[in-house]
Formats: sequence, structure tokens, C-alpha cells
Amino acid sequence: MEAIDLAQWIAFAPIVFQASLALRDLGILDAVEESKTNGLTIEEILEKTNLPNYGTRVLIEAALGIGLLIKKENRYTITKTGNFILNDSMTRVNMDFTQDVCYEGMFSLKDSIKKEKPTGLEVFGGWKTVYEALSHLPAQAQKSWFAFDHFYSDGSFPQALPILFKNKPKHILDIGGNTGKFTLKCMHFNEEVKVTILDLPGQLNLAKQNIKESGFEKRVNYYEINILDDSQKFPKGADAIWMSQFLDCFGEEEIVSILKRCHEALEPGGKIYIMETFWDRQRFKTGAFSLQMTSLYFTNVANGNSQMYDSAVFNKLIDKAGFKILEETNQIGISHTLQVCEKK
Ligand SMILES: C[S@@+](CC[C@H](N)C(=O)[O-])C[C@H]1O[C@@H](n2cnc3c(N)ncnc32)[C@H](O)[C@@H]1O
Repeated sequence: MEAIDLAQWIAFAPIVFQASLALRDLGILDAVEESKTNGLTIEEILEKTNLPNYGTRVLIEAALGIGLLIKKENRYTITKTGNFILNDSMTRVNMDFTQDVCYEGMFSLKDSIKKEKPTGLEVFGGWKTVYEALSHLPAQAQKSWFAFDHFYSDGSFPQALPILFKNKPKHILDIGGNTGKFTLKCMHFNEEVKVTILDLPGQLNLAKQNIKESGFEKRVNYYEINILDDSQKFPKGADAIWMSQFLDCFGEEEIVSILKRCHEALEPGGKIYIMETFWDRQRFKTGAFSLQMTSLYFTNVANGNSQMYDSAVFNKLIDKAGFKILEETNQIGISHTLQVCEKK
């Protein structure tokens, strides 16, 4: 019975998702939650939400099936799962990302697999990767993309900083530094360190604005690069290279090429710091599940060839590029592993 139940859950999954989003965004879950344990009748829900009768009734009945509401003596109350859909920030970030960045594109997932191309990205225009498209995405998609990205990495930075600064780096390359969030954390953490951010022009401009507003211009440099072009080398002179949620944006051969260029750029005795979310290193089954599903965003929307890796696959690439892992810390933030590597 469990197996056939789960199979039906999968068969109706897109409808379950859209119904849950509608229950959240149309204010139905909110209204019911406000009523606490007393609950609301359907008439009271209609009054509070100003929604039409028919549609609200079908949605509420769907909510019973999904497990977001329960009904006792004609009064509806919210379940714990309903509460998570409404109030849990991780769930909200994941749902918004699924809806605003992935949902429409996912219709062509089979094509992405066969063609090895992010066919879902066509929803947003004729871009090769989502990273080139980022600063041009519709406002809602851009907001949800950044919220998803920042939610996971932001929570990991406080635990990662002491590990990075244990070796007293003087000059860090923040590759894929995005909007400069981690660089700013470094500026606050250490008064002398210099950071060079490497990224595509769109993201680098956002980083420049943020660093300028925070008054750290003197210690931060910018280096525009399309890392997929392996003739583009990295600036020399850094004793630490930081890559957070970055290498998962690339396929296996691309990762080796990036790491080899890190090898060339790094000062003797320097170290690379890789912060990644490996699905095999998660404490909870749902953590692994979320990452396995996120991999398909890379397949269909981001670039067509990368993923949230299994650490066994990833570690072979580190070795192939001429590095050895010195130290690994799992369970950083919600889902990260931090690897400290040096040249073999
Ligand atoms: C998933 S974000 C991670 C951002 C940040 N490091 C963090 O931890 O939140 C990946 C970053 O890699 C950059 N990136 C992706 N493809 C790139 C490319 N071909 N060349 C340079 N940067 C690239 C993106 O612009 C983005 O800022």
C-alpha cells in the first residue's frame, strides 16, 4: 500500500505542488492558521480571503488530501506540514525557486537529458547558461534564484570563516564570488586580508556596488572571467582560493580544468577551500533528496551538465587536478562540506 500510495503522490505531484502554492499565496493557509485551534468553517475562510466559493472549496478539499489542513465538525485547522509550507523559510525558498526558476522549464527535462542542454532555460531566452542570464532574468525569477543561493551559503559562512582564517591567508581569490557576500564577511572577519573576486561581468557589477556601499573598496579587487574558456587564467599571488557552491555549476571535465588553473595560480604553500553540498554526506534522507532534485535544475535550467555531486565522484576530480584533501568538515550550515586541499 505504501508503494502504490507513493506512486499516486508522484503521479499527481505537479498538481499537489501548484495547489499548495495557491493555498499559501491566496492567503487560505494564513487565514486558517490565524484561527489557531478553533479552526474556521468554509464560510469563514471565504469571508477572510474574499475568494470565490467553488475554487476555494476544491482547494480546501485538496489540502485535506495533501495533508495541509484537517477537518473536524466542519471546521478546518492547519497541520504541522501546512505550518511548514506557510512559515518555514527553507520550505518557502525551495518552493519559490521551484516555481519561479524551474517549473515551466522542467516540462522539457527529457530533452535536456537527450540533448545534454539546459532546454528549460529557453523559457527565459536564448542563453547558454543561467549564469549569463542571471542579471537579465525577470524580477521574480531573479529574486527567487538569489534567495535560494544565499539561503544555503549564508548559513554556512559563519562556521567556514574560522577554518579559512586558521591558516592566516593574506590574499584570497573568491571564485564565483557572486554579489560579494562572502568577501564582505572576510572584510569584517579580518582587518588586513585582501580579496579578489572572480565572476562573470553581470554578477561582478552587483558585487562592486555592494562592496562600495560597505566602504571596503581598498581591499577588494575584481577580475572579470568566463571560467568556461580555459585559455582564461587566474590572477597570481593568492595564498588561498575560496570556491563556495561554485564547482557544482560545472561538469566533470570543466571542474578539472578549473582546479588545474587554481594549481597554476596558487602561491607555494597555498590552499584551496571548496565548500560544496554533497548528497551522500547529508545527515537526513530529505537533505539528500533535496540535493538530488536540485541536480535536475542544473540539468534542465542551469547548464545541462552539472549537479550536486556524490563526494566519491567529486574527490576523484580533485585528485586528477593535482590536489590532495587535507581536512574535511561536514554538516556546515544546513548541508555543506568544507574541504581544505593543497598541491600533491
Ligand atoms: C551558485 S553561485 C555561488 C555564489 C557564491 N559563491 C555562494 O556561495 O553563494 C555560482 C557563481 O558562479 C558564477 N559563475 C557561473 N558560471 C561562471 C563562469 N562561466 N565564469 C565565471 N563565473 C561563473 C556565477 O555567476 C555565480 O556567481
